Order: sequence, then C-alpha cells, then structure tokens
Amino acid sequence: MDTIALGMPTYKERRIPTRSGQQYFIRTFGCQMNEHDTERIAGLLESDGMEPAGSADAADLIILNTCTIRENADQKLYGYLGSLRALKSERPLRIAVGGCMAQKDREVIQDRAGWVDVVFGTHNTHRVLDLLDHADEWGPITEIWEETTSTEAMPSALPTHRETPHSAWVTITIGCNNSCTFCIVPYVRGAEISRRPSDIIREVRNLVAEGVREVTLLGQNVNSYGRDLDLNGRKPLFADLLRQVGQVEGLRRIRFTSPHPKDIRADVAAAMAETPEVCEQLHFPLQSGSDSVLRRMHRGYTGERFLARLEMVRSHMPDLTVSTDIIVGFPGETEADFQDTLDVVAAARFDSAYMFQYSPRPGTPAAEYDDQLSKEVVQERFDRLAALQDQISLEKNEALLGSTLELMSEGPSRKDASRLAGRTRGGKVVHCEASVPPGEELFATITSAAPHHLMGVPAS
Ligand code: 5AD
Ligand code: SF4
Repeated sequence: MDTIALGMPTYKERRIPTRSGQQYFIRTFGCQMNEHDTERIAGLLESDGMEPAGSADAADLIILNTCTIRENADQKLYGYLGSLRALKSERPLRIAVGGCMAQKDREVIQDRAGWVDVVFGTHNTHRVLDLLDHADEWGPITEIWEETTSTEAMPSALPTHRETPHSAWVTITIGCNNSCTFCIVPYVRGAEISRRPSDIIREVRNLVAEGVREVTLLGQNVNSYGRDLDLNGRKPLFADLLRQVGQVEGLRRIRFTSPHPKDIRADVAAAMAETPEVCEQLHFPLQSGSDSVLRRMHRGYTGERFLARLEMVRSHMPDLTVSTDIIVGFPGETEADFQDTLDVVAAARFDSAYMFQYSPRPGTPAAEYDDQLSKEVVQERFDRLAALQDQISLEKNEALLGSTLELMSEGPSRKDASRLAGRTRGGKVVHCEASVPPGEELFATITSAAPHHLMGVPAS
C-alpha cells in the first residue's frame, strides 16, 4: 500500500458527482466524536452522489469508523474485515477503515487486511473522496496526518448528513492537551486545536437556517477552548463563545460536552446562567473519587475539589442536571479508594453516570502499571457502584413527579408510536402521549419516574 503524508490539502465541494447511484454503508464504533465524524463522512459521500445502503450486503462501499478508547476492538475489527474479504471476492466492493484505530494501527491494518482499499486517520476525514479516487485509479492507499496545524480537518467544516434534523453537533476543538494516564485520546487525536469563533458562529447560523433548533458544542476539554488562538492579541474564552452562540437568532437550546473539572471557572457558570439558550445540563467527568487514584490518573483535582466545583456551577444554575463518567478498577485501586468513589457519588448526586471498567490502552502510562486488578474484583465494584447510582437516578427523577417541564420533541417513541419521546432542557428523556413534530416544544407534567426515563402528559 502507498503511505502518503503531504501538506494539508483544501477540501473543495465537488461540482459533478462521480459516484451517483452507488450505495455506502458506515459502521461506527465508539464515542460522539466518531458518530459526528460518521455524519460528516456520510455527507461527503452524498455530495458525490452516493446513497445510504440499508445493510452492508447491498453496499458498493463499506467504511468502518473505528474507536480505541475503551475496548480492545482488534478482534472485532479483524473478524469483521475477514467477512468483508469474502464479500469482496464475490463482487466489486470498496472497503475503507478510518477513526482512532486506523490512526494508531495503520501498519497492522495494511499487514493483516491487505484487501482494505483506504486507511485514513482522524485528521483525514475531509479527504475521503480523494482517497477513494486514488484507490480507484492506483490501488490501496493509507493516509494519516501525525499533526494537524489547520482547522480544515475539523469535521464540522464538511457537508453533513444528520441523523436528527433538529439537533446537531458542532466541533469547537479537536485533540486534547491533557495527559490522563488511562486515556488514548491525546495519542490518536493529537494536540488541541480550536476553531475560530467566527467559523463556529457561521456554522451554527447555517444549521439554524437548515432547521436545527439545538446544538451540542463538542470538545475533549471545552474549558481550554481558545487558548491556542490569537484574535488580535486576545484569546477567545469558552464563556464568550457560549454567549455568542446564544445570540444566534432561532436557536433554542445549547449544550456542550465536556468540561474538565480541573479547569471550569465561575465565568463559564455565569455565562451558562446568563444565556437563556444554554440548557441546565452539565456532563462533569469524575473518573474516581479517591485522591490517590485521581493523582495517578493525572486528573488535577481531588474529590473535595471536584465537589466544590460542582457546587459552584450549581450555585449559578440551581436546576442543573448532571451526568458523569466513572472508571472502576484503575490499577492499584483499593477497596478504600473505591469507597471514596462511592462517597463522592453519594455526595454529588449525579442524575446519571456512564460507568466503565478500566481497560488498559497500549501505549498509555497506566497500561504499564503493574498493579492491575482482577476482572472479578472490578466487576463486583462496578455492580455496587451501578446499584448506588441507579438508586440516586431514580430519586432524582422521582423528585420531578408533578412538575411541568419543557420538552423538545424527538418524534414518535420507538417503542410505542402513540407516544412521543422528548427531551427536557436537562437532557432527560420523557415519553408523553402527544404528537408534536421533531424539534418543536411542548410542556409536559411528569406522571411517573424510572431511573433512566420519565413519563408525562401534555400540560394543559
Ligand atoms: N478504560 C476505561 N474507561 C476509559 N475511558 C477513557 N479511557 C478509558 C480506559 N482506558 C472513559 C473515561 C472517559 C470516557 C470517554 O471514557 O471515563 O471520560
Ligand atoms: Fe482523555 Fe483526559 Fe483528554 Fe479527556 S481530558 S480526552 S480523559 S486525556
């Protein structure tokens, strides 16, 4: 396979589609960043005349958008690629692999799956059509950029195919400058680069013109937004950006993910409170409640500090819905450390938590620590944490019984078409017997509560 690493080319929208009538199928692994990248890849393919295929079997092009953040996806990926090899021997088929694993393991993919036509990195999403052209003409190609110095590669700068027409993700930074010892992201996504506020605002305006009512600003650490920019000697701050996005006419809701607990300041909380479009929602990743584990994770805060920061945001936004990420079983985590996590979880009273069992990511410092825990210990702690959080989630939802909340409709509920699924400003899902088009608002009175959803009736 060729491996090329040239200067950053410019994405230009193609005027004459060259793949009209062909069908594509994208399989996405992993996080919101990847789902967002997938929507952009789909948008690019559609700008070239392609259409989505119902299944991989019907597709002319199959793209795997890979992830390495939490699991050893190797076996899954190579197993799937093996089945595609058989498919490819029966009919013309292009196969492309992108995302974090492609970025990290490009040679391995070349060696183990020589039938893959295109391997592209996380900064090369915008080049996918050119790379497919290259594969058509010259054969297989791998293209990865080690460093990005330009925002051309920002997924949001590309055309898009959105899964939900009324709600969109907007990338504000790519990469991460932190060094959490468990995390592969800085290795595969590179150093942090911020988009200029004017680009972000332009994109949000265009989205609103297309019917979008809600945006989620995306970055690995949104609090450090703008530190790498220079606007006439001034660095734009995330708080300024929130206020500016709030000025976009027609936008109803703004969310963002994720702030880093070590960096969030009162200016951001004040901007949240003073910008009516910013929703009362915060994703605030704890990771662990033990000071010694947090130190070895390089998180830059203690359990107490985390709670103080959360309190600070809550003092500006009293009705805040808070979610978190927690890793169970970090190397060397003792029962006492785990108890500290349970204590912080009990004190923080999160509305919901994404809980993960620690998974060593090759190449990260924590993967080298020699005090890795057994699967049984981790599973047992995980179950205890999940039970505690479920109880808190239920209590938080029960506290909403009888209250009337603003919902944004997401259309008919998947389980029962006589109901709609809507989201509160806090991001909670409410099922409600009503029929309101997606993206429109209604008010609902909450009639029943479960840990992960609510039921309501339209408020009269
Ligand atoms: N093992 C388990 N969970 C991880 N996360 C990141 N890296 C790992 C890992 N090696 C979790 C963190 C992060 C979320 C996106 O994924 O909780 O916040
Ligand atoms: Fe990973 Fe830490 Fe950066 Fe989040 S802040 S992406 S956990 S290194």
